[in-house]
Amino acid sequence: MSGWLVIAGLGPGRDDLITPEVSKALAEATDIVGYIPYVARVKQRAGLELHASDNRVEIDRSRHALEMAAAGRRVVVVSSGDPGVFAMAAAVFEAVEAGPALWRDLEITVAPGITAMLAAAAQAGAPLGHDFCAINLSDNLKPWAVIEKRLRLAVEADFAMAFYNPRSKSRPEGFAKTLDILKATCGDARPVIFARAVTTPEEEIRVVPLAEAQPDMADMRTMVIVGSSSTRIIERERAPIVYTPRSVTP
Ligand SMILES: C[S@@+](CC[C@H](N)C(=O)[O-])C[C@H]1O[C@@H](n2cnc3c(N)ncnc32)[C@H](O)[C@@H]1O
Repeated sequence: MSGWLVIAGLGPGRDDLITPEVSKALAEATDIVGYIPYVARVKQRAGLELHASDNRVEIDRSRHALEMAAAGRRVVVVSSGDPGVFAMAAAVFEAVEAGPALWRDLEITVAPGITAMLAAAAQAGAPLGHDFCAINLSDNLKPWAVIEKRLRLAVEADFAMAFYNPRSKSRPEGFAKTLDILKATCGDARPVIFARAVTTPEEEIRVVPLAEAQPDMADMRTMVIVGSSSTRIIERERAPIVYTPRSVTP
C-alpha cells in the first residue's frame, strides 16, 4: 500500500470534540508523530508506532514524518486544537518546500480540529460574534516589536482579540506588557476572558473587567479573549454570558 500523511487536529481536549475524519486517520495509521503531550492523547494499539518529541523540533519532526510516508507508512502528525493554527501543518509544508522533489507528490491531507480559541469562546458565550483577530503572544518565532504593532493596530481597528500562548515561565513579561498596552488604550470595563484547559477536567473560565486583569491569571494552558468596544456581559446567577453583537451601530 502507498504511504500517506495526515496532519490532524485533536481538538482542545475532550474526546467527543475529535472529528470523525481525525478518528478514522488515527485508526488507519501505522505511525503517530508529534509533541509528547499530544502523542500521549492517542490510544496505543497493536501495530501502531508512537514517535513523541520535544516542542522545539518541529521541522525535524516534519521531515521524519515525510520520510516515513515516502517509505510507504501511513503517518498522522498530531497537533492540539487545529493543526493549521500555530501548529504543525505550516511546519510540515515548510519542510516540503525545502525538501526533496518527491515529497511534493505525497498524499498529504490536513484534517482540521476545533481550535482552542473557538472552544474557549463557546464556553464564555459568543465573544467572537463580530470581527476578531487571533495573535500568538509568544516571541519565540517573531520579534516582540511585531507582536506589539499587531496588538496596537488590533485595538485601533476595534477587533475582539484572542491570544494564544499568552504567558510562559520563561517569558512572563510579554503578557504583562500586553495588559499594560490594553489598559492604556481600552476602557477599564472591557471584558477579558481567561479560559484555562478548556474542555478538560481542569477547565477554569474567569471573566473580569480589564482593570482587574492580572498577568498571573494566564499560563500556557490559557486562551485569553479580550472583547471589542461592543462586547457585552449578561449577568446572571450562573457564570455570566459574554457576547459581541452581530451588528456595529455607526
Ligand atoms: C502552540 S498553540 C497551539 C494551538 C492549537 N493548534 C489550537 O488550534 O488550539 C498552544 C496554545 O493554545 C492554547 N490552548 C490550547 N489548548 C487549550 C485549551 N484546552 N484551553 C485553553 N487554551 C488552550 C493556549 O493558549 C496554548 O498556549
